[in-house]
Amino acid sequence: MKRDRYLQEASDLSYFEIQAAIGTTKHMGGLETTKELATLCHIGKDTAVLDVGCGAGATACYLARTTGCRVVGVDLREPMVALSDERAGKLGVRDLVEFRVADAQALPFDDATFDVILCESVATFIEDKKRVIDEYARVVRPGGYVGLNEEIWIETPTAEMVEYKRTWDIAPDILDVEDWRALLEGAGFRDVVARVYRVETRREASQVKRYTAGDMFRMFSRTLVLYIKNPALRKYMRERKRMPKGLFKRLGYVVLVGRK
Ligand SMILES: C[S@@+](CC[C@H](N)C(=O)[O-])C[C@H]1O[C@@H](n2cnc3c(N)ncnc32)[C@H](O)[C@@H]1O
Repeated sequence: MKRDRYLQEASDLSYFEIQAAIGTTKHMGGLETTKELATLCHIGKDTAVLDVGCGAGATACYLARTTGCRVVGVDLREPMVALSDERAGKLGVRDLVEFRVADAQALPFDDATFDVILCESVATFIEDKKRVIDEYARVVRPGGYVGLNEEIWIETPTAEMVEYKRTWDIAPDILDVEDWRALLEGAGFRDVVARVYRVETRREASQVKRYTAGDMFRMFSRTLVLYIKNPALRKYMRERKRMPKGLFKRLGYVVLVGRK
């Protein structure tokens, strides 16, 4: 309750604060892309998965429910970890998943702990990407997989597009596909698969399949309350609406998998 009041009165809201407040996080390509990563990383019942930047916990809970695998989800932000844990309780998968606060750049796990490391729309927001990928290479076991889904520039962006992206408080630092490939190969990953996608309505529609109808209702009502009560959110949404023309012709995402 105290937190709700803080969010309703805060004069400045960050993108991730808004997401945590309304109870949702996302990545490009929605559930379709998660399924694709799970297949390419060979996730099955006996796979130990680490979901880095787990956000609201949708992927961790989905994988545990559908395959019976064990998943540890970590996120830099405590409210995300709380949301994830709440989701696991509601979906009845607390025996298979656990969540904790941790930084992707310094993971609190021993070397070779996991079979698969997943990272969906997280590393883009971290400046030192080499450090992140090196951490993934350290905590995955030999023969295990790393699977990423990150925004990329498919074509060189215009100055206006770069500027628009910079205005986001989370300041995504967007690479192109060859940069990502080089980072993975440089960290010792081999057999790297890189599938490039443009933003496309059908795949984006699968965002909602990550959440239950109850989740969607809560997200909608929380957004409405926050929108009515907090002018900072209205300002934030107005600024996001000024999207440069043709942005999604140049901005896409990559599903990237490598084997240790
Ligand atoms: C765009 S959201 C994606 C969340 C989730 N992977 C999903 O697909 O719904 C990015 C998440 O990464 C987290 N994050 C950002 N930087 C991080 C870091 N250095 N270590 C761990 N998590 C981080 C944020 O708190 C946020 O929850």
